[in-house]
Amino acid sequence: MGHLTGVAGAGVMGGGIALAAALAGSPVLVWSRRETTLRSCIDKCKKDLGRAVKKGWIDEVSADEAVARMQPVADVRELAAADLVIESVAEDLSVKTDVLTELDRVCDENTILSTNTSSISIDVLAGATRRPQNFLGTHFIYPAPIRPLVEVLTGTKTSEETVSRVRTRFEGWGKRCLVVEDGVSGPVVNRLFGVLAAEAMRLHESGAASADDIDAICELGFGHATGPLKSLDAVGLDVALASLENAYERTGQAVFEPPEILARMVSEGLLGRKSRKGFYEYPSTRERRAD
Ligand SMILES: NC(=O)c1ccc[n+]([C@@H]2O[C@H](COP(=O)([O-])OP(=O)(O)OC[C@H]3O[C@@H](n4cnc5c(N)ncnc54)[C@H](O)[C@@H]3O)[C@@H](O)[C@H]2O)c1
Repeated sequence: MGHLTGVAGAGVMGGGIALAAALAGSPVLVWSRRETTLRSCIDKCKKDLGRAVKKGWIDEVSADEAVARMQPVADVRELAAADLVIESVAEDLSVKTDVLTELDRVCDENTILSTNTSSISIDVLAGATRRPQNFLGTHFIYPAPIRPLVEVLTGTKTSEETVSRVRTRFEGWGKRCLVVEDGVSGPVVNRLFGVLAAEAMRLHESGAASADDIDAICELGFGHATGPLKSLDAVGLDVALASLENAYERTGQAVFEPPEILARMVSEGLLGRKSRKGFYEYPSTRERRAD
């Protein structure tokens, strides 16, 4: 019998992780507590694939086959058919704890449970389950179908067999796995990006440089594919705030202290691409057509 992966949470990352699996030929179940989220997740994946077909990155048959490999499920119990379930719900300890407790209850004891957390301790989240040896962090990078890297975060009780099973699965999806002890640093990707992003926001807030100029410095000056403020808009400012808050709490280092502008924008509902406004504005398709 082939392997089946489950994804709990159908937001920006849950949908992206499911699409990464499907594009690599792996069947995947996607669950969300709301049917509307589930539907818009599948619609978004279809739209992204349509764009990839237009750009010639993938042919139409492969795109259709990828969609067919993604099975939306409305009942969390259906995830029990998977042997690896990746939790990717909101970056909030109590939300994650509730979902992981439920997954632990419905899934077989040999099933590996993982979390896509950006910043919450793996040992703390493992505590929501009765399988710390079969639990770890699998930190994907946005956009998950494209970025060929997954940070695998081990907790103090994660077994080597669990790491090896997960590594084999993701390498089959064309990803390179970097294994990091969560207790030492948390996700290294976020520690590095957090410093750059926080400083970019502070510079922008102080009026030192415009959002465009800061991004241009990183893109043209450092050769980054995307500047930090554009990346923050894509990641979601609420997710970025939670991630910085947790890194600050965990390390006590002032570089991670969330800039005031970030907290203010989140409280005003400016979340980046998903709310159509962040450091930049993103008109809807209809607005773009009317231009
Ligand atoms: N956005 C990024 O670039 C990025 C990168 C790596 C990891 N992450 C992590 O991935 C996870 C998901 O982030 P995202 O960007 O996809 O966020 P998102 O806001 O796009 O999606 C969050 C999902 O959680 C679900 N959810 C919210 N409350 C819930 C509840 N009480 N019960 C069940 N489901 C609930 C929502 O319906 C949604 O499907 C977070 O832990 C985040 O830190 C995000």
